[in-house]
Amino acid sequence: MSTGRTNRRRFLKIAGASGVILAASGTGYMLTRGPTRALRPWEQAGAERYPDPMRAALSYAILAPSPYNRQPWLVQLHGPHDALLYCDLDRLLPYTDPFNRQTVIALGCFLELFSLAAAQAGFAAQITLFPEGDPGNGLDKRPIARLHLAPQPDIPKDPLFAHCRARRTTREPFDMGRAVPAEPLARMARATRATTSVRFGATRDQAEAEQLRQLARDGVHQEFASRTVRQETADFMRIGRREIEQSPDGIAVSNPVVELLQQFDLIDRENMAARKSRAFALGFERMEQLALASPGFFWIATADNDRGSQIAAGRAYLRASLQATADGLAMQPLSQTLREYPGMRKLYVKLHRLLMEQPGERIQMLARIGYADRVPPAPRWPLEHRLRATGVS
Ligand SMILES: Cc1cc2nc3c(=O)[nH]c(=O)nc-3n(C[C@H](O)[C@H](O)[C@H](O)COP(=O)(O)O)c2cc1C
Repeated sequence: MSTGRTNRRRFLKIAGASGVILAASGTGYMLTRGPTRALRPWEQAGAERYPDPMRAALSYAILAPSPYNRQPWLVQLHGPHDALLYCDLDRLLPYTDPFNRQTVIALGCFLELFSLAAAQAGFAAQITLFPEGDPGNGLDKRPIARLHLAPQPDIPKDPLFAHCRARRTTREPFDMGRAVPAEPLARMARATRATTSVRFGATRDQAEAEQLRQLARDGVHQEFASRTVRQETADFMRIGRREIEQSPDGIAVSNPVVELLQQFDLIDRENMAARKSRAFALGFERMEQLALASPGFFWIATADNDRGSQIAAGRAYLRASLQATADGLAMQPLSQTLREYPGMRKLYVKLHRLLMEQPGERIQMLARIGYADRVPPAPRWPLEHRLRATGVS
């Protein structure tokens, strides 16, 4: 006899089985059932849709990576060749990024992609950082950068640009039977040399990689131990196609099971962050599995931790990730041990002791690297959404 209770039990079983998808910070979504509008910015980038050079370059820049896919950029246009870049202060991550360091790195990624796209169209991107002063410890309403496009038809086009639509953050286990060859890592190091003041580091040595895998896993443990961090993660997950289309930021999770669970109200954000929940346990296992399935790692370090260095780190990360994409490699930043909240302090120090080459050096980005199947792109707000309403255009 099929009672309400058995039906409910059946659904809870489905909910349990899909917990991994709900809480794993995104295993991607099936394209057949996935979002459509939220992915359009990937196709729309370029001069065909955006004939003026500033909008065209910006339409590529918004494809940059950002922590939790928050897309913190906000641009005020001043004609076809000039603009001001701001940080959208509503898009900060108060707990996991208390000094907005990762947010500034994302703005650096954005500026690098902007420059590459501008050069492609025959313009030199002239970027003046912090034109009204350095924000120091906390970001404020002053601009991050002044942008000017100067026509320069003979400007060299960077071959890395060709890979900007194919770059992904890949939250899948990497093939542990396939080592990362030395040559692509050397090419990544060379790609970052265009950005002065950063140090590119990488390892394919299995003893060192094992130390980093263990540390990354410990970072996942620490992160899951914090209710606040779990809640911040759950808050920025976009579950199901409808949510993703409505808010194309955060970590997107969508597939037929998720859609079904949503219809029956079986997905609960509070529950996802609750320590005893099945979704929590499976999500935790998944994250641990990802950290351990990492044949290699790379990192970006800077001599100090000022805002300019964080921008430079973002520019370098973007270049390294485009070179990795060109070589068919998958990557995923693993930022847990780099986060500055008090609970992470011990692991933060341990990681720095392991990777630091000189006193005071800061590891700004740490990412796993290896081979994996391709994943779909992550959602983006359209360019129009990231333009400030005021300002002359
Ligand atoms: C500073 C920074 C830190 C990040 N940290 C993580 C991380 O710890 N784990 C992760 O899965 N992705 C991390 N990412 C990647 C973003 O989540 C990703 O860029 C975003 O979801 C958009 O996806 P895309 O890179 O595929 O376009 C980070 C990105 C940046 C710029």
